[in-house]
Amino acid sequence: MTVMTARVRNYLLCRPRHFAVEYAINPWMDATTEVDVDRAIAQWETLVTALERLGHTVHTLEPEPGLPDMVFAANGAFSVDGVVYGARFRYPQRQAEAAAHEKWYRAGGWEFITPGEINEGEGDFAYVTGPGLVLAGYGFRTDPRGHAEAAEALGRPVVSLKLTDPRFYHLDTALTVLDDETIAYYPDAFSAGSQTILRRLFPTALLADEADALAFGLNSVSDNRNVVLNAEATGMAEKLLARGYTPVPVDLSELKLGGGSVKCCIAELRKG
Ligand code: ARG
Repeated sequence: MTVMTARVRNYLLCRPRHFAVEYAINPWMDATTEVDVDRAIAQWETLVTALERLGHTVHTLEPEPGLPDMVFAANGAFSVDGVVYGARFRYPQRQAEAAAHEKWYRAGGWEFITPGEINEGEGDFAYVTGPGLVLAGYGFRTDPRGHAEAAEALGRPVVSLKLTDPRFYHLDTALTVLDDETIAYYPDAFSAGSQTILRRLFPTALLADEADALAFGLNSVSDNRNVVLNAEATGMAEKLLARGYTPVPVDLSELKLGGGSVKCCIAELRKG
């Protein structure tokens, strides 16, 4: 098994200063839960440190009061080769986050495409560099019309994949890109037809099981070699090691109360 060399990345994250679970828009959330904000911030800082230790650049978005899910920065946009396809959130509680992301990208000189369709950014879009392919989830959050819109905005083929298990409501809870050619996914999170598509496109994919997915083992971020993932996902870490990757576990248990982990906190900035 040849493992690629790591490639340095640019990431956008948002400190969980106003993190809370005040509403429930996914099965992991319980609106009566009290979260420990200081603990969430401390855990988030360990994530930032882990990324920086690997040589990556971390950019940050200013957290806004009243937007408790803003820490899940993956959902705010999706960029490929310097072009950004903006997000349009499904639930009203998160809709104002999109403007904060748009402002950040525009200030940085990115080409920004304003979406007309509902889509939750990198939560439901993943990019496989080798084939230049966008993988896109639908069924819970992103509208499939957003997939067609993203294809047009980014000039890349988009493969639509249907998510069927509400616990895995975003693509990034059920599938992750490990390197330029390889993905890992949990087959049962997808419809039968989408499982066939994934098998055809990625015959050598790493297959995760239900325990891996429930431990947010697929909600990970890879630089082609090092895979940063939730510390509870020990089974997934073993599978990655067996394939020659280096798992980098980070404890994000507090953020899991909001239904997210490593990948949800990170938007990759693909400048091209
Ligand atoms: N509470 C957030 C929501 O339900 C969690 C988002 C997780 N983000 C992700 N990329 N999966 O919208």
